[in-house]
Amino acid sequence: MAKLVINEENRLGRIEPEIYGHFSEHLGRCIYEGIYVGEDSKIPNVNGMRTDVVEALKELKIPVLRWPGGCFADEYHWRDGIGPKEKRKKMINTHWGGVVEDNSFGTHEYMELCRQLGCKTYVNANLGSGTVQEMSEWVEYMTFKGVSPMADLRAQNGHEEPWTLDYIGVGNENWGCGGNMTPEFYGNEYRRYQTYVRNYDAAKPVQKICCGANVDDYEWTKGVLSTTFYHGKEAHGFMDGLSLHYYTHPNGWEEKGSATDFDEETWYKTLKKALYMDTLITRHGNIMDEYDPEKKIGMIVDEWGTWFTCEPGTNPGFLYQQNTVRDALVAGITLNIFNKHCDRVKMAALAQMVNVLQAVLLTEGEKMIKTPTYHVMHMYRHHQGADLLESSLCDVGETGIGEWTVPEVTESVSIDSSGVITITLNNLSIEQEKKVDVQFANCGYKVTEANIVTGNDMRDHNTFDAPENVTEKTFAGYRETAEGLSVTLPVNSVVEIRVSR
Ligand code: AHR
Repeated sequence: MAKLVINEENRLGRIEPEIYGHFSEHLGRCIYEGIYVGEDSKIPNVNGMRTDVVEALKELKIPVLRWPGGCFADEYHWRDGIGPKEKRKKMINTHWGGVVEDNSFGTHEYMELCRQLGCKTYVNANLGSGTVQEMSEWVEYMTFKGVSPMADLRAQNGHEEPWTLDYIGVGNENWGCGGNMTPEFYGNEYRRYQTYVRNYDAAKPVQKICCGANVDDYEWTKGVLSTTFYHGKEAHGFMDGLSLHYYTHPNGWEEKGSATDFDEETWYKTLKKALYMDTLITRHGNIMDEYDPEKKIGMIVDEWGTWFTCEPGTNPGFLYQQNTVRDALVAGITLNIFNKHCDRVKMAALAQMVNVLQAVLLTEGEKMIKTPTYHVMHMYRHHQGADLLESSLCDVGETGIGEWTVPEVTESVSIDSSGVITITLNNLSIEQEKKVDVQFANCGYKVTEANIVTGNDMRDHNTFDAPENVTEKTFAGYRETAEGLSVTLPVNSVVEIRVSR
């Protein structure tokens, strides 16, 4: 039997709520249809935002939303998306399907969406094909209170008051779609651009996020940091975060594989690749430690999730994929990893929120369904803002097929401000249930709530005709013991157990 030892006397750091963030790009049916349908739509909406989608996202307590891209960000010119809609410029979305982008969702609409969601704002600016002036004026447009050309323009467009810009990304994937730059070139550009991100409201400084690496490109991390830190440690003020992008695709970049039709070996292969996130955070984190030993700069994993071959019959440029129990496990595993690294990981964004890649919601006309990933994010919301507790698993074996071996169980544990402890456990095996003996430092804990996301089959998923195949259900597979709990995790399951004294 495996043992989970929890030392609730040792708090290891705060799990920033932003670790549970989301990403919405002008890509496929994420923004248009998925979120924004326009005020005249017959789909119920508030100021153009789908009511069903907003309500579902609010249940996740979504803390922050990144926008407008992605690759789209480095081709986005914000002035195209303000002013009367009929006059807004139409453009081709060259990255994503070559469709017409009518710019009807722009800065005002994004800020309205964040208002409805009650989340923080994270705008990704254009460094690849934009200018310093353009970026600097966007910041002025969004945040300056008083008389200025951009504040006046904002008022003319109907919004007198400035908004709060919590985070700004200075370019996206500038090693690739954001300009194919070298780390040194980007590092210098970053230094210049970030200079003009002015803090017009000293009480609410804009957090600046520098473009970090793709997957295991440690040279990028070193190159960008050494360039940015050219003058030594005082360069800390240049950045608040450094991003990292990592997608899980079992069969490599070319042949990603079906989201729903996969075999047992591919199950383990996918989970093993999801677990690789731990190595990436550790190794990029080690490099960051050389420049920033006090961990003032957050690692911002602002694109993560599964990336499979798009659903048959859909536009390949739209990246629309289904979401199964396998995605639930990828989410559970990854979020446990982020929690465990909360000393360095300060924000993350699942790609992407609606209708794209590992989405939490899928829509079809007026219909909306919640995916297995949604239900995992819902259970894990209890970790947001809680303190990570020291915890470790003993006597856990490995499971898998051939070279694709993974630990049978992963976990993370936190305690919230009212003293409730949240334990999240994943059983990665598709063959064997797993007994876990949970031991606390103190005794007398009672379960207040326990939930599970699983399926009868690893390929189970929700459809518009059967939206409740995989949902969050009450979990009864535990027994309170003198030392803690005795838990039996069903195969391929993500479980949350909450206890208090
Ligand atoms: O999320 C889809 C794309 O993946 C993003 O636009 C880009 O940043 C990444 O390559």
